Amino acid sequence: MDQYLSERIKKLSESQTIAMARRSRELQAEGIDVISLSLGEPDLNAPEHVKEAAKKAIDEDWSHYPPVAGYPELRKAISDKFKRQNGLNYSPEQILVSTGAKQSLANVILSLVNPGDEVIILAPYWVSYLELVKLAGGKAKFVTAGIDTDFKSSAAELDEAINEDTKLIIFSSPSNPTGTYYTKSELEGFAKVIAKYPNVFAISDEIYEHINFSGKHESLAQFPEVYEQVITVNGVSKAYAMTGYRIGYIGAPLWITKACDKMQGQITSGANTIAQRASIEAVNTSEEWLSEMCSIFEKRRELVTDLFSNIEGFKTNMPGGAFYLFPEVSALFGHSFNGQEVNNSNDLCMFFMNECHVAMVPGEAFGAPGYVRMSYATSESNLKEAAKRIKIGVEKLLHH
Ligand SMILES: Cc1ncc(COP(=O)(O)O)c(C=O)c1O
Repeated sequence: MDQYLSERIKKLSESQTIAMARRSRELQAEGIDVISLSLGEPDLNAPEHVKEAAKKAIDEDWSHYPPVAGYPELRKAISDKFKRQNGLNYSPEQILVSTGAKQSLANVILSLVNPGDEVIILAPYWVSYLELVKLAGGKAKFVTAGIDTDFKSSAAELDEAINEDTKLIIFSSPSNPTGTYYTKSELEGFAKVIAKYPNVFAISDEIYEHINFSGKHESLAQFPEVYEQVITVNGVSKAYAMTGYRIGYIGAPLWITKACDKMQGQITSGANTIAQRASIEAVNTSEEWLSEMCSIFEKRRELVTDLFSNIEGFKTNMPGGAFYLFPEVSALFGHSFNGQEVNNSNDLCMFFMNECHVAMVPGEAFGAPGYVRMSYATSESNLKEAAKRIKIGVEKLLHH
């Protein structure tokens, strides 16, 4: 019956991170102990006071339709957060709360991109950027960086990619899948380029801002010359281990926020009321919680980088943020074991899944074929065991 489906849905790819997670659940259902390094969420739970706020919201009957853009108290809390933590001036009217940062991104992309518009995506990129651009009928163009530059693209490369069809630029810092984050002076370089093209807009996805090991998080919108062109995307999912609450938000020029409000008003309306009330607490959470969480991930980053840099065929860097390691693994291609040929990262991840019972995500999903993404949002013992198994698997692949 697929012939009846729209061209739109036929062109859309299934999220490969979700596909990999499903595969590992299938193996687990067969009783196989699979270590998953494939999921993009903290393994911590939401802070207690946030959970209390959610329970209180139920008891206080926050059960009616909320305003499309979010409760005024939440928009105010987010506006204050932008000021306090990022030095950004977004009035509450410039904030729109959505069902996860994913919906925030969808709102912006669908509100700005016309069919045929070019959208520059800094690669390696988070999977959904490309699919959302496709959904809007836009043409994606990639500016790609590899491990040798710590996955950083330069302002000059960005400048070169922009032409008269360019409408939007999308990137995340810290990045999923690489963990790379851009410094203030690097972002200033981008800002200088973007300011030359007033008809070009930029989405700065800062959802991993609080998982940054090397310094202060910097926002693109801080540079006055691009403030009117930048949409800052953020949310509570990664910072407060609240992925299931589904609350994301944007700060943007008012006309963009209004367009997104209109879009969201026809698709989902306002985000879940209980999650919004809990998010007021989350956004106002003391920085102590954030720094504790960050130091947990930092410790694991050291561990995982150390473990995997000592495995043959894995070329690693030291990621500055988020909770991913994105090693270059092409030295493992062109080998086979037990009838399983490994010619690309997809094959390699399947080999690791079948032979080592470790789930990772192939770099292809992020526009980076010679790489794999490992999430270290899991326990230290899992990370050690995963590295042990992968080492044995690699040994089989290369030397048997
Ligand atoms: C870079 C990036 N942006 C946005 C999101 C979406 O976040 P949310 O769970 O709030 O929809 C994710 C989640 O994996 C992400 O990695």
